[in-house]
Amino acid sequence: MPRLNSATDLERLRQEILAKRDPNKPCVTICSGTGCQAYGSEVVYEAFVEEIQKNGLQEKVDIRRTGCHGFCERGTLVVIFPEEMCYLRVKPDDVPEIVSTTLVQKKIVDRLLYEDNGKKVVHEGDIPFYKHQSRIVFGNNRLIGHNHINDYIALGGYSALAKALLEMTPEQVLNEVKKANLRGRGGGGFPAGTKWETTRNAPGEVKYVIVNADEGDPGAYMDRSLLEGNPHSVLEGLIIGAYAIGSHQGFVYVRQEYPIAVRNLSTALEQAHEYGLLGSNILGSGFGFDVEVHRGAGAFVSGESSALMTALEGIVGEPRPKYIRTAVSGIWGKPSNLNNVETWATVPLIISKGAEWFAGIGTEGSKGTKIFSLVGKVNNTGLVEVPMGMTLRKVIFDIGGGIPSGRKFKAVQTGGPSGGVIPESCLDLPIDFDELTKVGSMMGSGGMIVMDEDTCMVDIARYFLNFLAGESCGKCLPCREGIYQMLKILNRICEGKGGEEDIELLEEISEVVRNASLCALGQTAPNPVLSTIRYFRDEYEAHIKEKRCPAGVCKELISYYIEPEKCQACLICLRNCPVEAITGGKNLTHVIDQDKCTKCGSCLEVCPPRFGAVTKLSSLKVPEPALQGTEVIHDGGVKNE
Ligand SMILES: Cc1cc2nc3c(=O)[nH]c(=O)nc-3n(C[C@H](O)[C@H](O)[C@H](O)COP(=O)(O)O)c2cc1C
Ligand code: FES
Repeated sequence: MPRLNSATDLERLRQEILAKRDPNKPCVTICSGTGCQAYGSEVVYEAFVEEIQKNGLQEKVDIRRTGCHGFCERGTLVVIFPEEMCYLRVKPDDVPEIVSTTLVQKKIVDRLLYEDNGKKVVHEGDIPFYKHQSRIVFGNNRLIGHNHINDYIALGGYSALAKALLEMTPEQVLNEVKKANLRGRGGGGFPAGTKWETTRNAPGEVKYVIVNADEGDPGAYMDRSLLEGNPHSVLEGLIIGAYAIGSHQGFVYVRQEYPIAVRNLSTALEQAHEYGLLGSNILGSGFGFDVEVHRGAGAFVSGESSALMTALEGIVGEPRPKYIRTAVSGIWGKPSNLNNVETWATVPLIISKGAEWFAGIGTEGSKGTKIFSLVGKVNNTGLVEVPMGMTLRKVIFDIGGGIPSGRKFKAVQTGGPSGGVIPESCLDLPIDFDELTKVGSMMGSGGMIVMDEDTCMVDIARYFLNFLAGESCGKCLPCREGIYQMLKILNRICEGKGGEEDIELLEEISEVVRNASLCALGQTAPNPVLSTIRYFRDEYEAHIKEKRCPAGVCKELISYYIEPEKCQACLICLRNCPVEAITGGKNLTHVIDQDKCTKCGSCLEVCPPRFGAVTKLSSLKVPEPALQGTEVIHDGGVKNE
């Protein structure tokens, strides 16, 4: 690899790369993000290599393994360029047909296309999941081969760095980021430019810049996918930030459980070194900077800024009081600027396209786009990048394709475990930092969990508190004890043992935990509880006063019941009950012994839909007649097996 000593060298390299490429040559890209790898994308890739060889197409077709495309639920994704034909759920067995039909005969394999209301969609960009997105940060993932720095450079990569280092002063870079009003994507939404300025102006020669790739929110994987698929964009942003701040040493704190991200990032660092984009005298600018990768052990609390910096020092990653901000006194007491993966990856765009362009996207207080991890009870799950200000409704229904199995939307949880739950009445809320906070939730790092009518909101609050209780580092009492006590109350409500005073007690403890905890883990932990009480108080009351779980989730409060009028005495549920709680006979309707029943739901699952005799009740009160079997006269349509 040649060392690049100037902007001209970089541009020359870019031109050389482009000159060697034929834009009309077919290129099969196979998504190798973690989601698609779980579906077996590596075997699909190998099948393509083999099949292309078998057909003697090695010289005529390129193959590339790329980062996550976002539509992980439909993996393995295969996109064939230049037409951008998109095949979904591709299995190794499909490969011979794709090669012979699409690559040889130039025809489409219909059955592997996305179907939208009966219409087949050929091009990736026309799939509704993608059509409504603005993938300015995440979009290049699908164009860059794993560990191919030249793919990044071909797309204009590192030209923002060249511009910053060779055409702008550090102050100009800083002002551009401030003018863009880039707010941190890792949770707090703090203006990046202001934080950079604090570190820059803090006393001391030695300063650090850090990438937060801890990503501990359950269900979130935006940062992982960016680091796996486009690590150079994060690196480029980091070097630009270091230049603006006056730092010569950076760290990437990435969780150990992200092996592909660690591997691809480490390769990216080696490549950047070889090209002279890291190390001394970067691009001949005289500026020197280096980066170390630190693998975190996977504690949620270690994503908090002071805890992360403590972990980087080699000490247990627990938060410390921030009388002095980490931007002034961070790692080893030196000024340290921490930003999230997505925040850093956005910086090169701001420098190349300008603050005005960036500030033209989004809302008054929240500029640019945000990547969300759209999961839960929604048809199209995956990673979506949308302009700030898009409504929740558009994200969930237009991009996410609505709720599966004809169920009704109930709520969406945003902001990770310490975010809040938002009900249907707020679906037209524009997504931005401030609007989400106003309704009792938050943007967080971009987790978005959709819930349908079968979700119990008390159980949801319990789920998140259980997570947070386990992740609390235990250093401060309000968080350690407060979350635990709230969890105990939620447990007893879900078990039907809640008392009339419990809602008030939850609110009271929330207040203390919020105000007295050492770090934002505790300070935001009450959000799931307070937001569910705010919007779904009736569900709490049903659990407490009526000993009923309206969504039919809390096991201690529900029962299964066989309707005698519908039961055809077919014996199926009786034979499938794992605890032999069902009695009855060939001519006797079946009855569930409520004392023996473990509420596993297998009777409901196996009861033939044409009978539909088993019902899940939202309380423990089972109608009297169901306590005894009655005789069934089989009318010919029903047969005992
Ligand atoms: C308990 C806890 C966990 C956090 N985890 C992460 C994380 O995994 N990734 C992240 O970027 N920020 C995380 N944050 C936020 C960071 O403390 C910090 O605000 C952020 O990394 C700063 O970057 P940004 O300004 O670019 O968002 C966490 C905060 C708390 C309180
Ligand atoms: S991993 Fe393939 S689309 Fe996300």
